[in-house]
This record gives sequence, C-alpha cells and structure tokens, in this order.
Amino acid sequence: MIKYHNINGIITPVEESFVHVSELALHRGYGIFDYFLVKEGQPVFFDDYLDRFEASARTMYLDIPLTRAQLKTRIYELIAANNVPNSAIKILLTGGNSSDGYTPEKPNLMILGFMPPVYPQELLNNGYRLMTHEHIRDIAEVKTINYVASLLVNKKLRELNAHDVLYHKNGLISESSRSNFFLVKQDNTIVTTARDILFGVTRKHILTLAEKHYKVEVRDVFLDEVFSAKEAFLSSSTKGAFPVIKIDSNQIGDGKFGKVTLHLNSLFDTYVEKYISLNKKAI
Ligand SMILES: Cc1ncc(COP(=O)(O)O)c(C=O)c1O
Repeated sequence: MIKYHNINGIITPVEESFVHVSELALHRGYGIFDYFLVKEGQPVFFDDYLDRFEASARTMYLDIPLTRAQLKTRIYELIAANNVPNSAIKILLTGGNSSDGYTPEKPNLMILGFMPPVYPQELLNNGYRLMTHEHIRDIAEVKTINYVASLLVNKKLRELNAHDVLYHKNGLISESSRSNFFLVKQDNTIVTTARDILFGVTRKHILTLAEKHYKVEVRDVFLDEVFSAKEAFLSSSTKGAFPVIKIDSNQIGDGKFGKVTLHLNSLFDTYVEKYISLNKKAI
C-alpha cells in the first residue's frame, strides 16, 4: 500500500498531503504533471519521462526547483519510503500558492505515489470501443493538468457503451484522452498521428520496436482511413499497446485483438523487462 507522498521536499503521509486553497492549479488550472510506472523499484524509461516533464515546465514557464539528479533522488527516496516495488509515480508541478489568486509566485512540486491501475481481463482480451469527438487538446505537446474535455464526454461514453474518445479535427485524428493512436493498414504498415498530440513515451518506444519489423508511417491520419484499417490500437504507459475494436458504430478489422497489435504488445513488454534488468544493475 502507498503510505507517503513528497510535498515540496517533505515525505508526508498520504492522508496529510494537502495543498493550500490559494493554489493556482485550483483557481486557474495552471499546472503540469507526468506519470510513469515503477517496476522492481525502478522507474520505467525514467529519463524519457523527466525529459518530457522538464520540457512541459519550460513551455509553461514553471520552474522546477531541482536539478535532474536531485529530482531523481527525491523520487527514489519516495519509492524507498513506500517500499512498494511495483507502483506508479505522478510528478505534479503547479502554479503554487498565490496571494491574489492569479499571479504566480513559487510553484509547488508534489511527487505522489500510486498503485498502477488494474484493467479488467475482459477489456485486455476484447479491446476498446472508442467514440469520435471533435477536439484538440490545448498546448497538446504539454502534459497539462487540463483534461476537462475528456471528463465532459464521460456521460456520453457511458450512454454509447464506449470506453474512451478519439479526438479529431478537420478530418484529422490526433489522439485519445490519455493515449496515442495507431492503425495497422491491410499490408501491415503501422501508422500513427504526427501532430496535435502528447508525444507519448510508450508511442516512442513502440515506434522504435515497430520499425524493426514493419513499415512505419508517422503522418497526418484521416478519420476515413481508420474504417478500412486491419487493426487499430492505443498506446500508453499503463496499457502498452492496447487493441481498439470499434470506433463509433464501425468494427475495426475482425473486431478482435489483432496479430500485429499482439506482436507489438509482447515486444514492448519484453523491452520494458530488459530496460528494468539493465537499469537495476546501474542503481
Ligand atoms: C493526452 C495523452 N496522450 C497520450 C498519452 C500517452 O503517453 P505515455 O505513453 O507517455 O503514457 C497520455 C498519457 O497519459 C496522455 O495524457
């Protein structure tokens, strides 16, 4: 069980981890975060996530009060305090307490421990049903704390018996609420979207793995193309490569976990295991 978070440098019991009411994230939605899995006590693809976190902070003019090495030390200390080898970490950097509720003063840096989500086996075996939704995330390449657009469609998702959204605009697909989108063409070419997305760490590694076995295209993807795809899948830190079997009322391929998706998923799992075994030695 996760017992501690780290709030501005202090390891704090979860039930005592608070922010002040003057926090700008509450008043103005000003903040960024990142999220990664921890396996055998080692953050998976640690530097990739910290690269993205630091880039998000720069774009948002939020100062991280630590060097990369200090941030890593703080994260390892929290992992050690919780002593849960397989877990997840969220690093949250917010606008901070503001006396007038608008002017940034000093950011708050919170490192939070979590248990990773457990997806029902039925979902893992049978795949996701997506609902298209016209939207592009603001400052899409930054992992801001703003997920309002996806929260607003939750009711509709439930009504339509869909699991998540597929964002598109002007006929072009971008991504899902918390994952990147790929399709597999009839000739097994892997295609993923190139812009208006968060550049997922999982996406990056899946592309590298895919290039060794398949033709890969990173480009604009039109909504129409999806309906003639052989397979479609999502990628994210918590899901790896995850099949999409239906988009709106259209079945994708034969509506099952496709062979190419399955292959990439197993390549990715092996790659993560290798990363962990190599990096554990370096600790
Ligand atoms: C909007 C969005 N796109 C894509 C992703 C997938 O990124 P990653 O593979 O780094 O988890 C996420 C992850 O949370 C996300 O929030």
